[in-house]
Amino acid sequence: MKLVKLVYQRIANKIRYIDFLIIIKMAKKQRLQSPQGMHDILPEDQKYFEKLYGIAENIASFYGFEKIETPILEFTDLYEKGTGLNTDIVEKQMFSLKTRGGDLLTLRPEFTPGVMRAFIQHGMMNLPQPVKLFSVGSVFRYESPQAGRFRQFRQINFEVFGEKSPAIDAQVIQAFYNLLFELKFKNLVIEVNSIGAGCCRPYFKKILTSYLRSNINSLCVDCKRRVRENPLRFLDCKEEKCQPVKAQAPQIIDHLCEECNSHFKETLEFLDELGLPYRLNPYLVRGLDYYTKTVFEIFSEIVSPDQVLPIALIGGGRYDNLGKIIGGKDIPACGGAAGVERIINEMKKNQFRVSIDSKKEVFLAQVGDLAKKKSLKLFEEFRKAKIPVAESLSKDSLKVQLTRADRLNIRYTLILGQKEALEKTVILRDMKNGIQDTFKIDKIINEIKKRLKRKNNYAIRSKKTK
Ligand code: HAM
Repeated sequence: MKLVKLVYQRIANKIRYIDFLIIIKMAKKQRLQSPQGMHDILPEDQKYFEKLYGIAENIASFYGFEKIETPILEFTDLYEKGTGLNTDIVEKQMFSLKTRGGDLLTLRPEFTPGVMRAFIQHGMMNLPQPVKLFSVGSVFRYESPQAGRFRQFRQINFEVFGEKSPAIDAQVIQAFYNLLFELKFKNLVIEVNSIGAGCCRPYFKKILTSYLRSNINSLCVDCKRRVRENPLRFLDCKEEKCQPVKAQAPQIIDHLCEECNSHFKETLEFLDELGLPYRLNPYLVRGLDYYTKTVFEIFSEIVSPDQVLPIALIGGGRYDNLGKIIGGKDIPACGGAAGVERIINEMKKNQFRVSIDSKKEVFLAQVGDLAKKKSLKLFEEFRKAKIPVAESLSKDSLKVQLTRADRLNIRYTLILGQKEALEKTVILRDMKNGIQDTFKIDKIINEIKKRLKRKNNYAIRSKKTK
C-alpha cells in the first residue's frame, strides 16, 4: 500500500526521483530484516548453543530431569491466570492471536504455566513423586529491545513437581549454578529471598501498602500505580527516585509466618551445606505472580562496559499454588529458567573458548569431470561406512579445495584427478606432514579406518599420560 501511495505522490511530482529511489531501496531493505528483537542464529554461533545445550542435557540427566515438549501456543487465559494479570508479561508483552475457530492463543512467554498444565492434564501426580521435567526452546515477549532483552529468546527450564521439601529448592539452585559453573563462568552470585505465601504475604502487602501510601509523593510514576495493583513490585523498582523510600521499607523476611520462615531457613542451610555463593536480597520479588516462598536469581558479576547493572542469567523459585491457580489443585513445585541468549552473550563478551569440533577428519577433493563423478560415488561409500567426510564438489580448483580442507583442520585429504579416476586409484595426503600415498579406490575406506583408529588410540594414550 505504502508503495502504491509513493508512486502516486511521485507521479504528482511531490517526490524527487532520487528521493523516490532511496525510499524504495530502504523499503526493500526493511522487508529483508528479521522482526525487531528476533535474531537469526548463524552457523558460526551454533557452537555456543550446542555447548550450552550439551551441558544442560548432562545436568538434566544427572539430576533426573526428563525432557518434555509443550506447544509453542497455549490458551491465553493460561498465562492470564498463571503468570498473572498484573505482571508486565500479561499486561504488555504477550504475542496473542485469535484462530479462525475463535480460540484466543498466546505464543508462550515462559514455560512454567504450560509445563504445569501438561503435568495436570497427563495425570503426572499419579507417578512416583517428585516428577522432574526439563524443557528447552523459544519464548516470546514483546519487550523494548535493548542489551540482553529480546522478543524471541530461548530458555532452558528445569521444574520439579510434587515435593515440598526445601532440599528441592536448594537442588534446583545447585543444578542451575552447575550449568554456569561448567561453562566456566567465574564470579557467580546467587541472590535469594523468600516472598512467603498465602499465609503471610497478604498481611505483609497491607503493611507495605500503608508504608507506600504514606510516601506516595516520593515514588516514581510506575510505583504509584503499583501501590494499587501489585505493591510487591515496588521492591524491585530500579528508579532512582524510589531508592530512599526502598531503603526504609519493611522487609518481607521480617514478616514471614512460621512455616515460610522455617522453609527459608532450611533452604539457606542446604545452600550453606552445598557451599554455594549466595547472598540475601530482601528486594528480590521476581516479576511473575505465581511464586511462593523461595525466589532466586543467578548473575555473573563481571559487568561489561555496555551494561549498567548485571542482568540475571537465570531466575526461578517455588510456586506451590500455580496448579490451583490454573484450574487444577495445589501441587508443590519449584523450578527455574536460564536465558540462553544472555548466557551466550556473556560467553562471547568474556571470550570463553568454545572448541570448534569439526568432527570431520577426511576431505574429498577432485579435479576434472570424471573425477567428480567418481568422488560422488566415493562420498556415498564413506557415508555407508559412517565416516564423516567434508567435500567441495562445487569447486574445480585443487588449491581452493585444499585451502578449505586446511581451514576445517582436516587430517586426511583424498585427491581424485583425471589420472586417478582412469586408474581407479586415489591419492591420500596426510595434511599434518604433507606425505602422500596412492591407493586403489576400493581399498581407501579400510585404509582411512585404520589410520583414524591409530590416531584416536594415540590421542587417548597421550591424554592418559598427561
Ligand atoms: P524469567 O526471570 O522471566 O523467569 O526468565 C528467566 C530467564 O530468561 C532470565 O533470567 C533471563 O536470563 C531470560 N530472559 C528473560 N527475559 C528475557 C528477554 N527479554 N530477553 C532475553 N532473555 C530473557 C521465567 O521465565 C520463569 N518461568 C522461570 C521459572 C521456571 N520459575 C519457576 N520455574
